[in-house]
Amino acid sequence: MANEAQIGGTAVQMSHPDNHPGTPCVLVIFGASGDLTKRLLMPALYNLECDGLLSDRFAIVGIAMDEMSTDDFRANMTRDIKKFSTRKEFDEAAWARLAGRLHYTSGKFDRPEAYQKLAGVVDKVEAERNVGGNVIFYMATPPSIFGMISDNLDRAGFKKKEKGWIRIIVEKPFGHDLNSAIELNKQLLTHWREDQIYRIDHYLGKETVQNLLAFRFSNGIFEPLWNKAHIDHIQFSVAETVGVEGRGSYYDRSGVLRDMIQNHMFQMLAYLCMEPPPSFKPDAIRNEKFKLLDAVRVMTPAQVLKHTVRGQYGPGKKADGKPAVGYREEPDVNPGSKTETFAALELFIDNWRWEGVPIYLRSGKGLWKRGTEIVVQFKKAPEVLFRDTPVDHLDANLLLFHIQPDQGIEIRFQAKTPGPTMTLQRVNMRFEYGDAFEASRGTGYEVLLYNCMIGDATLFSRTDLVETAWRVAQPLLDTWASQPADALESYPAGSWGPKGAFDLINKGGRHWMEIVNREILARIPLFPTTDPVCLQKLAMTLNPVVFSAGEPIIKAGDPGSDMYFVCRGQVEVLDGSGRPIATLDEGDYFGELSLLKSQPRTASIRAVTPCNLFVLGKADFDRVMHDHPQFAAKLGDLARERYDHKDGGH
Ligand code: BG6
Repeated sequence: MANEAQIGGTAVQMSHPDNHPGTPCVLVIFGASGDLTKRLLMPALYNLECDGLLSDRFAIVGIAMDEMSTDDFRANMTRDIKKFSTRKEFDEAAWARLAGRLHYTSGKFDRPEAYQKLAGVVDKVEAERNVGGNVIFYMATPPSIFGMISDNLDRAGFKKKEKGWIRIIVEKPFGHDLNSAIELNKQLLTHWREDQIYRIDHYLGKETVQNLLAFRFSNGIFEPLWNKAHIDHIQFSVAETVGVEGRGSYYDRSGVLRDMIQNHMFQMLAYLCMEPPPSFKPDAIRNEKFKLLDAVRVMTPAQVLKHTVRGQYGPGKKADGKPAVGYREEPDVNPGSKTETFAALELFIDNWRWEGVPIYLRSGKGLWKRGTEIVVQFKKAPEVLFRDTPVDHLDANLLLFHIQPDQGIEIRFQAKTPGPTMTLQRVNMRFEYGDAFEASRGTGYEVLLYNCMIGDATLFSRTDLVETAWRVAQPLLDTWASQPADALESYPAGSWGPKGAFDLINKGGRHWMEIVNREILARIPLFPTTDPVCLQKLAMTLNPVVFSAGEPIIKAGDPGSDMYFVCRGQVEVLDGSGRPIATLDEGDYFGELSLLKSQPRTASIRAVTPCNLFVLGKADFDRVMHDHPQFAAKLGDLARERYDHKDGGH
């Protein structure tokens, strides 16, 4: 139980004693026969029911084109919940209570008679359950028909109801660009007041995202440091291993900027960087989020070219090593597509708090690992104090938010290595959700549905926020569209993304912080048998580097300053005359000999394919060797073997 939160999904702990059942209402789901209903909405409603958070005076009416009876709908949902429930144990009684409150009416969304029929069903259900007139319309449909549905609801008399409230929930995409978003908002606002519109961004349903605000504003030690005087830069990464998963036709018109960055990532950015609100009232928070996004610099075309990078995955490997097709070969994707499946941005927030602090965002599909992480890098302590000690440099402190699949918060700092001399080692303190909370896994929609029922709009996007987010994204869309096709860098599926993303951050003397855990280290054959303390140390010291095909990595004769591990790709070893004498593949390593023997490199190494490598600097290498004699012995043996059998003494 304690570790459930780490498995994936979102930790939910809704059954807290301070939580009460939601307000009585009828939830009408447009598009009830679709995927969203069975995969997310029903499991979320079922979780709410299990936690006692649905009122007895609550009911659901599904509407869709498919001809089916209420009994059929109940039977389908009963079949599907077994598959999509997020709970370990299935509570038959709770499901039976919910299933008994499901109703269905079929109809085409453009036919007024469908809405007359719907009104009849809603009236009947309301009367049966004594609901009191409150209705939520959930538009699980394409945004292009929100206006038409709203018109028809109006004609069918829903807006003239004498009792209760009406709220509508809409799903992204909220527009395709700035103009279409403004148009869509106009349409919605001709039918509904702002306080009736609940725009869902499922990232705000994640506990770890909501916790960003709680963390910042309930802990006094961080807020005084939360500004340009103490923070060097911030990184947001959302990496996905999956490709477009059968959604090619949607994705090819979207791309990662529209699909992930303009909405989900900007929400996290707003939470992390906004000013403290005067209260936790919905509009107090939403005002600050808007102000923050409004302060993000809107780039000129020249700035877009300088501060952004985009890429598209080509053929490569899946996380399990099996072959993966390139994006252009995915079903329903244009074979000449210019759609970006990866993007990295360097943004600036032009306000008093953040002036000059680079904010890096990157997200992509077809990458080497799945993980959403935020890294806050603080400015370094002055190194001068350590000038007469063996410490040659200090690391910056890092605060890491592990959003998913790991859920936790970590601080990295330096500690004195036990012993008579002043030497330092990177260490960390880490809080895991799974250790602290008896939370069960949810879909993330529980909190969103519940909050809509109780009329708390905090977690929903207001018109001004949506439009401001598009205002920041629009110049990127325009400039990218005006670029030739080769401006889109290809990266192999299963890799770390385009090299340009590394160059983007490296040019400011910074680097992407890859969260390396044991699972990732286990992919490197040298490590699995290594002891846990040593692995922990390695996980905190390895840095990622990316090389293009043909690029030199090590030059014979140079002093050895690093050791490398091949994560993705292939390198070749060249002798003194530049002749290839060996190749090294994924899982291999190189560069250790000259470190072990303190001698210059005896061979050159060059990337054959695009390469993703972990690099271990000499100081860290020496420390690991010194502190972990078993690992040192193993590496020494392997090196000796290699040196004797191959001419690979690089
Ligand atoms: C959706 C995007 O909004 O978010 C998908 O349309 C993406 O392309 C998904 O995969 C990611 O959500 P999560 O919760 O898995 O990070």
